[in-house]
Amino acid sequence: MALSTGPRWWRVRRTPHPVVVADPATPFIQLDAIAREYQTGRGSLTALHPTDLAIPVGQTVAIVGPSGSGKSTILNVIAGIDRPSGGRVTIGGTNLTALSEEGLTRWRGEQVGIVFQFFQLMPTLSALENVILASEFRARPLGAGQRRRRALELLELVGLSDLADHLPSELSGGEQQRVALARALVNDPPLLLADEPTGNLDSATGERIMGLLAAFATAGRTLVFVTHDPVLAARADRTIRVRDGNIVSDQLTDRPTT
Ligand SMILES: Nc1ncnc2c1ncn2[C@@H]1O[C@H](COP(=O)(O)OP(=O)(O)OP(=O)(O)O)[C@@H](O)[C@H]1O
Ligand SMILES: [Mg+2]
Repeated sequence: MALSTGPRWWRVRRTPHPVVVADPATPFIQLDAIAREYQTGRGSLTALHPTDLAIPVGQTVAIVGPSGSGKSTILNVIAGIDRPSGGRVTIGGTNLTALSEEGLTRWRGEQVGIVFQFFQLMPTLSALENVILASEFRARPLGAGQRRRRALELLELVGLSDLADHLPSELSGGEQQRVALARALVNDPPLLLADEPTGNLDSATGERIMGLLAAFATAGRTLVFVTHDPVLAARADRTIRVRDGNIVSDQLTDRPTT
């Protein structure tokens, strides 16, 4: 990506966990006939019709579409937060559909950073404690001191060191968004999923967050994000458009070949 990457990012960057893909031709993320239905008081609602999607390792993908079209549903299925009603999800060779809840939680903690649409910070923990908590699930565990230092590095990266001891309720929406990003990056996961990561931010802060996401999406890391902003979508390598629970277009971004 043609975005600049600030020097502070590089200072804290770690070698990513090796991404285990048996065959280089195998997509990193593979959704096979994934469907999601909800049973509601008014009958069943199809949030996602059977959908296939393959994302190679290292790609940055934007998911766009109207409200209620199924964007978060796709992201949550990839994250293993939402179990699909049908189909199969394979990520980095792991079949998520076959994992137990415990296995899924462990896999997610080690392999995925998630920035939720509504942040989902723990309300009784400070910003710092929220980030430290996320570093519990690591492939290579850290000691308490290291976890604290790592969490502080990440809060500094998103410009929130001064607010580390604030509770989420004492932070603005944009500040909570940045804590959520620090938390998502704390384990340096090979996959980052972000649901409207700049939705609550002014344009300058949004730029900064996008810069951090772009810096993340190097060195073979894969980024999938939902956005309503066409300018942000154009920065991705690929845009997937969703409508009424279907992928209606899937386009690689044209870039000038200079
Ligand atoms: N727990 C649920 N129970 C019933 N229906 C749900 C549930 N969660 C989502 N839906 C429905 O599934 C559809 C897709 O929801 P989803 O959250 O994926 O939309 P979205 O594209 O992310 O929308 P937005 O841009 O507003 O965040 C919507 O019609 C929504 O009402
Ligand atoms: Mg959504």
